[in-house]
Amino acid sequence: MNKNALVIGASGGIAKVLIEKLVNTGEYETVYTVSRSAPDSILQGQQHESFDTVSEADVDDYVSKLKRSGVTLDYVVCATGILHTSGEMTLKPEKRLEDMNEEQFAEYFRVNTVLPAIWLKKLVKVVNKSGATIIFFSARVGSITDNSLGGWYGYRASKAALNMLVKTAAIEYRRRLPNTVLVCYHPGTVNTSLSKPFQTNVKQGKLFSPDFTCESLLKISSGLPVEQSPYYLDWAGEKIPW
Ligand SMILES: NC(=O)c1ccc[n+]([C@@H]2O[C@H](COP(=O)([O-])OP(=O)(O)OC[C@H]3O[C@@H](n4cnc5c(N)ncnc54)[C@H](OP(=O)(O)O)[C@@H]3O)[C@@H](O)[C@H]2O)c1
Repeated sequence: MNKNALVIGASGGIAKVLIEKLVNTGEYETVYTVSRSAPDSILQGQQHESFDTVSEADVDDYVSKLKRSGVTLDYVVCATGILHTSGEMTLKPEKRLEDMNEEQFAEYFRVNTVLPAIWLKKLVKVVNKSGATIIFFSARVGSITDNSLGGWYGYRASKAALNMLVKTAAIEYRRRLPNTVLVCYHPGTVNTSLSKPFQTNVKQGKLFSPDFTCESLLKISSGLPVEQSPYYLDWAGEKIPW
């Protein structure tokens, strides 16, 4: 066993459960985790570092350190994303055109699009050349084709832009790291702080636990043929139209 995994955004409601599951598979020598904050506890087999995961300089330091230590990554999950925030920087998904504002757009794109772009850029140094899977948490609302409801301008656009980045990077990865599978994943509506304010609108039986979506992800992402990468998949393993 000398496979390694990395989870970016370790404090998230979904990420926390995923980390536990990855450790428990016993498939990975080390599950590396990164987050802006320190976790309450570290599992055996987990190695954690806290830094600003959207800072290119910090990400570069971290990835370079892995590279210097001879670490290669087989399974990477970027589980970061924002929909609403309160406090100093308040984000609220827009309901109407008049709600759009520059500051809010900048924050959605910084976290939901630029952060994954930085990791896509840096990970080329450390992915296992003989086979790796990199998953980015996207959302169905990022589908340009499947948009019949409208609203949530900034979140939708930042996830659509993430999908475009992954699709574009897949072309270059195919040339430089042809054994890498890239995935944009929609976890369903999951019971975490991200979906809390919107859970009353969810149909019965459609609010998933982090456990459910993580199990699905692990099942779906194993054995995806590299020739068809990139994938945009939902929790059921169904393809979402880009
Ligand atoms: N929950 C749902 O219903 C749902 C539905 C569709 C898609 N998704 C997507 O699934 C992913 C995980 O969501 P979740 O439900 O686990 O959300 P969550 O519990 O709110 O976790 C938020 C995640 O985003 C990161 N994050 C938040 N603000 C950030 C910032 N300013 N800079 C850098 N990182 C930041 C956190 O990383 P740190 O560890 O650094 O704090 C954490 O990993 C997201 O991409 C989300 O868009 C969720």
